[in-house]
Amino acid sequence: MQVLRTEMHEIPFYLPSGLETQLFEEAYRQGLPLLLKGPTGCGKTRFVAHMAARLGRPLYTVSCHDDLTAADLTGRFLLKGGETLWSDGPLTRAVREGGICYLDEVVEARKDVTVVLHPLTDDRRILPLERTGEILTAPPEFMLVASYNPGYQNILKTLKPSTRQRFLALEFDFPPMAAEVAIVAAESGLTEARVRPLVLVAQRLRAMKGHDIEEGVSTRLLVYCATLLRAGVPFDAAIRASLVEPLSDEAEVKQGLIEAIAAIIG
Ligand SMILES: Nc1ncnc2c1ncn2[C@@H]1O[C@H](COP(=O)(O)OP(=O)(O)O)[C@@H](O)[C@H]1O
Ligand SMILES: [Mg+2]
Repeated sequence: MQVLRTEMHEIPFYLPSGLETQLFEEAYRQGLPLLLKGPTGCGKTRFVAHMAARLGRPLYTVSCHDDLTAADLTGRFLLKGGETLWSDGPLTRAVREGGICYLDEVVEARKDVTVVLHPLTDDRRILPLERTGEILTAPPEFMLVASYNPGYQNILKTLKPSTRQRFLALEFDFPPMAAEVAIVAAESGLTEARVRPLVLVAQRLRAMKGHDIEEGVSTRLLVYCATLLRAGVPFDAAIRASLVEPLSDEAEVKQGLIEAIAAIIG
């Protein structure tokens, strides 16, 4: 399982598109869990990292996958030098420490995960640890944040209403043109003038999404593209590696993308 504990002393750059920073702060103050919905690569993880640093809380990021169980989050007994010792999982650590626990792609996790989330996400704010008999009460600084990508349209993998209705929810999408130009320029160091046509390409390709490509070009891929260009990689190679190959494996689709990009850039 991939878990990351980060404690940032510098606040990572995040350009807001709406009232999301205010809403996050209010959710944090009120002890309410928050669900971020949106396509991959649109800024959800960056937003959470930014907010955790702003609020001065340690951040536990868990990338959920389909083998992730409740015990992965809460903890388990481990054999250490002939002894069995309890080892806290990331959720338990975040509760004890008053940190922010971010469950990335939460719908991927096993169903038993929701069972441990329920008492934490209502006004009890408790985490019962069945195996040790402890019942932890979350301090006011603890916050649960989860994200998922509703675009995948997997009926088997959506949150049950009884779970999702415990969260405040924010919809994320790719930033508007001017904001995305500013973000990609800031992240890559490429000038806004050189970034603008790339963002235009992304916005046009997103409008075409659905038939041959599952997901449109993300802000993340634009940052990659601009970073390659900034490093001096020739234009066609940079475009291909960042805006064509990541989107499809099919020769015709890729050719179509290359032609569409050429037509947009002119
Ligand atoms: N609003 C934003 N402000 C700053 N950077 C952003 C923003 N949105 C996207 N990015 C850039 O896009 C990259 C991918 O975003 P990320 O947060 O990892 O996406 P997600 O978690 O939604 O998949 C970030 O690393 C950052 O470079
Ligand atoms: Mg993410």
